[in-house]
Amino acid sequence: MRVFLFHLILFLISWNARSNEDKIEASSPSGHIQFSFRLSDNKATYSVKANNSILVEKGQLGLRFADFDLNEFTSFTSSTELIRELWAPVWGEEDSIVNQCNELSIALSANNGTSLTIVFRLFDEGFAFRYEVPKRKSPLILIDEQSSFKLSGTYNCWWSWADYNTLEKQYFHTSLDSVSHVSCPFTLQRSDGLYLAIHEADINDYSTMTLKKNGQNSFKVDLVPWADGALVKSQKALTSPWRVFMIGSDPGSLITNRMVLNLNEPNRIKDVSWIEPMSYCGVWWEMHLGISTWASGSHHGANTENVKRYIDFASANGIKGVLIEGWNTGWEDWGKKGAFDFVTPYSDLDLKKIVQYAKDREVEIIGHHETGGDTESYEKRVKRAFRYYRRLGIRVVKTGYAGPVTPEGELHHGQCMVRHYNYIMKLAARNNIMLDVHEPIVLSGMSRTYPNLMTAEGVRGMEWNAWSDGNHPSHTCTLPFTRGLAGPTDYTPGIFDIDLSKHSEERIKWNSLDQGNSSVKSTIANQMALLIVLYSPLQMLADLPENYSDPKVLEVLRDLPTSWNETRVLAAEIGKYVIIARRSGNSWYVAGITNEEPRDIVINCDFLGNNLTYTGNFIQDLETSHYLKEPETYKVDSLLLKVDDTLKLHMAEGGGFLIRLQSQD
Ligand code: NOJ
Ligand code: CA
Repeated sequence: MRVFLFHLILFLISWNARSNEDKIEASSPSGHIQFSFRLSDNKATYSVKANNSILVEKGQLGLRFADFDLNEFTSFTSSTELIRELWAPVWGEEDSIVNQCNELSIALSANNGTSLTIVFRLFDEGFAFRYEVPKRKSPLILIDEQSSFKLSGTYNCWWSWADYNTLEKQYFHTSLDSVSHVSCPFTLQRSDGLYLAIHEADINDYSTMTLKKNGQNSFKVDLVPWADGALVKSQKALTSPWRVFMIGSDPGSLITNRMVLNLNEPNRIKDVSWIEPMSYCGVWWEMHLGISTWASGSHHGANTENVKRYIDFASANGIKGVLIEGWNTGWEDWGKKGAFDFVTPYSDLDLKKIVQYAKDREVEIIGHHETGGDTESYEKRVKRAFRYYRRLGIRVVKTGYAGPVTPEGELHHGQCMVRHYNYIMKLAARNNIMLDVHEPIVLSGMSRTYPNLMTAEGVRGMEWNAWSDGNHPSHTCTLPFTRGLAGPTDYTPGIFDIDLSKHSEERIKWNSLDQGNSSVKSTIANQMALLIVLYSPLQMLADLPENYSDPKVLEVLRDLPTSWNETRVLAAEIGKYVIIARRSGNSWYVAGITNEEPRDIVINCDFLGNNLTYTGNFIQDLETSHYLKEPETYKVDSLLLKVDDTLKLHMAEGGGFLIRLQSQD
């Protein structure tokens, strides 16, 4: 997909904002979100109504710095702006995005001569705010962000424990009472059916946010600190990320909510011709299974012959990329400072020859920079490493940060690492390199500004199924409504050998979480569906080439689109099931997954939207399929569909389906 449309209209008009001395009210363009800001007893607070019912009762606002506070104010002025924009992402879940909201800027003055601007944006599908602190003579050292909010009503929610170092966590579904400290995105459902997801956008030079309970239904922003205890440091003016509240009347409206992207700056990369979404496979799962190794030795995976096998498989099946992990020296010294130089391939890999071999077959090699968390060494070496890849013709790089980060004592999700990830993203952009970041900081929509930031992990992904008790079917039914709201997810689905039996004799245990009983815990049809359900512009078909032996399935997966013209959520219940339809040109892909429960669902084909006849193929579970008892049975049927048809679907326990449709006319 290329930019075909870009136009931006900014109206500087005064819209429906009513002000008393200490209070100002405003609303979203349709009036759906009603907002009120108040300065009372020198404290700044806000409240929000959605559809005339109170959502946030009393949101607190303020910042505390090491040498002064910005939480008591004497007066304020306000200005308003209507933002209306239609923009075309370089890649994504649709080809054009509407950004429409009312912006309210409140400039607050404090007694100590300081000032703070808080900018609110009111969308029909939620609201957001951010702080802007002017530059001072002395550095700004933030010691507390006092943003907090009390939610009105009774909620259940989907959440994972806050962890300052990892996002690879399980999700829980509980009442709000059982929650104390959560990571974001944090997703809730109110008893009247309203859905809410709280996240942040545009984490530029700040630390990342978790939410800590500080009262009944009440949460406060909790920032990941620096090693010395400071939360955020700045020598310049300081702009916080947006605090984002996505609001919808059904679960699907969270998936299609684009506030996080809209709250980021437009694309800064002028020539985007080198940015290409793609499906990929690679030398990866075999190491996680313990069949081969990243390090050199008799089982070294990334050797010339083995990589060629993946390239042949990719080229024969319309898969555009091949990832090579374990290509460079250093894996023997895992955990040691400076273990990797990122420019020395193992002697059994002829990288130059491999890149040419791939090119001749219209396949792209995806490189890998595993840092082990040693960002200090990586920053010293990355320019040369990018140059090295560029010279070879490698323009997609997967990065990894599995391990305690350097500088020593810093936390994975603190401002120090935010700076690192953003530095690498910008450097990669200058070098025409697309990125897939593993062990990232949480995504916050920055791929709008730097669309070379393609995808990220930051999820308990497929690898956990190879060497731990794994992920249960409800996990992937929860991800589109939680982790997925932050941005693309490199979950790496597409496994065929579900019970991992095909290679059991060759496997060598390498991970201490491996109890010898790992399996993928889904049916094959569910694995195929995940390729569509979990959005990523770099989408991995993660299994070994020899396990994709069914030509009918390979036909459905051939030339798999990873950027879409349209996305529709046809039906969903968070954690239980989700059915998504995505269109690329004249083709529709419809996919569904269910949790541990089997499900029979009827879908209406009106999403096709025209009177054309569509033919296609349909990968689905058998009646007897079951994610534990019979995970590897499925059938592939052909289909003929028109807009007024209905489709009856059966999904087995932990199952799913994938349909590929092509218009005939
Ligand atoms: C963890 C990453 O998530 C995984 O994809 C990678 O294979 C290993 N680290 C080794 O780099
Ligand atoms: Ca990982």
